[in-house]
Amino acid sequence: MSYAIPRGTQDILPGQSEKWQRIEALIHDLCRRYNYKEIRTPMFEQTELFARGVGDTTDIVQKEMYTFKDRGDRSLTLRPEGTASVVRSFVENKMHGLPDQPVKLYYTGPMFRYERPQSGRMRQFVQFGVEALGSADPQIDGEVLALAMDFYKEIGLQNVKLVINSLGDKDSRTAHKEALISHFKPRINEFCSDCQSRLEKNPLRILDCKKDRDHELMGTAPSILDYLNDASKEYFEHVQKALESMGIAYVIDPTLVRGLDYYNNTAFEIMLEGDGFGAITTLAGGGRYNGLVEEIGGPETPGIGFALSIERVLMALEAQQVELQTVNQLDVYLVSLGDEPKDKTPEIIHSLRAQGISCDTDYMDKKMKAQMKAANRQQAKYVFILGEDELDQQSVMVKEMATGEQTLVPLATIMSDAASIVTT
Ligand code: HAM
Repeated sequence: MSYAIPRGTQDILPGQSEKWQRIEALIHDLCRRYNYKEIRTPMFEQTELFARGVGDTTDIVQKEMYTFKDRGDRSLTLRPEGTASVVRSFVENKMHGLPDQPVKLYYTGPMFRYERPQSGRMRQFVQFGVEALGSADPQIDGEVLALAMDFYKEIGLQNVKLVINSLGDKDSRTAHKEALISHFKPRINEFCSDCQSRLEKNPLRILDCKKDRDHELMGTAPSILDYLNDASKEYFEHVQKALESMGIAYVIDPTLVRGLDYYNNTAFEIMLEGDGFGAITTLAGGGRYNGLVEEIGGPETPGIGFALSIERVLMALEAQQVELQTVNQLDVYLVSLGDEPKDKTPEIIHSLRAQGISCDTDYMDKKMKAQMKAANRQQAKYVFILGEDELDQQSVMVKEMATGEQTLVPLATIMSDAASIVTT
């Protein structure tokens, strides 16, 4: 019997994992600067949370959830996204009562969607997302968008385009919905069964249909921007003003519809322009979701957020041949020769590690030459050589690999003040 990794998942091996750590470090630092605090929620939730939160006419809920019964016969679902869970936690922990509003949160972690796997589309992928709950100030929309754009800028990605739209408030959406129904209804039998069933309930979803994307009625569908009432229009203008004041370029695309139901007013996606990235060019998506907190059982609370997947960031970096700065070097490799020196190695490497120095040694009973080769492969900055002679002198031969320079250093110095010898 041989085992294979499940479709749509991946192992992240050494060589790749350093890149993940680098990206994660940037995420934590960026969120610290923007004053967003980390939240960690469970990997699974009650199925009903996503049905209500994400919306039961969405592809995610209809086709993509990993849903199972536990031994207590409860229906649970592996989270397909983070927003519903964060909102559930916000309500459950009564964060609306906290003195500092809005509550600004971020998360990273695996999400699960039963999708047809292809490059950039996985069944398990890691999202970085932020959610700002409690403020309806268009400037916070600007802040969330700026954070997302800064992430790509700081990671070194080029040709990143911010696309925004307004889906309007409830009243604007109701008017637009009616217009969409009248537009599609007479010829709805020319559309796929999903579109047909979504017509009355959620016609906006039709605009997001992949199968019928080229139908002539798609291009002539009524634009939401023509149905925005004054309040929604003004809100959208203020968001744009905030972006402009930060020097963040954007384009407006009135056909931008998100794949989740909870959005209103601001909706946005971040796309990668240019060749070499395959069919999927969306790097991130998000928007405002006033009403979701109430839907999940909390008090009326506005919210906005976005999420991106780290897999797509890595793909984009690769397509643009951007090398992430990763630390892969070992400070010290300790080579020992003979039984007594070997007996001494645990004490020395333990002390070095306690002094903040990365180090390793041989556990394969290798000869001196093979140990030196191992040190080279690990790109050790220094090799410490401990043979019978050195031990007799209570010293270690320190070789700086870049220069080839060798110095005999007292063991006492190495054990108490290695930093005076090793520059990390
Ligand atoms: P979403 O558009 O479904 O939104 O996903 C956001 C991002 O997650 C996508 O732009 C993409 O980078 C990544 N993503 C989605 N599915 C996959 C997949 N199968 N494989 C790889 N990457 C994927 C949300 O999830 C919302 N919760 C975003 C949000 C937060 N809105 C408000 N707050």
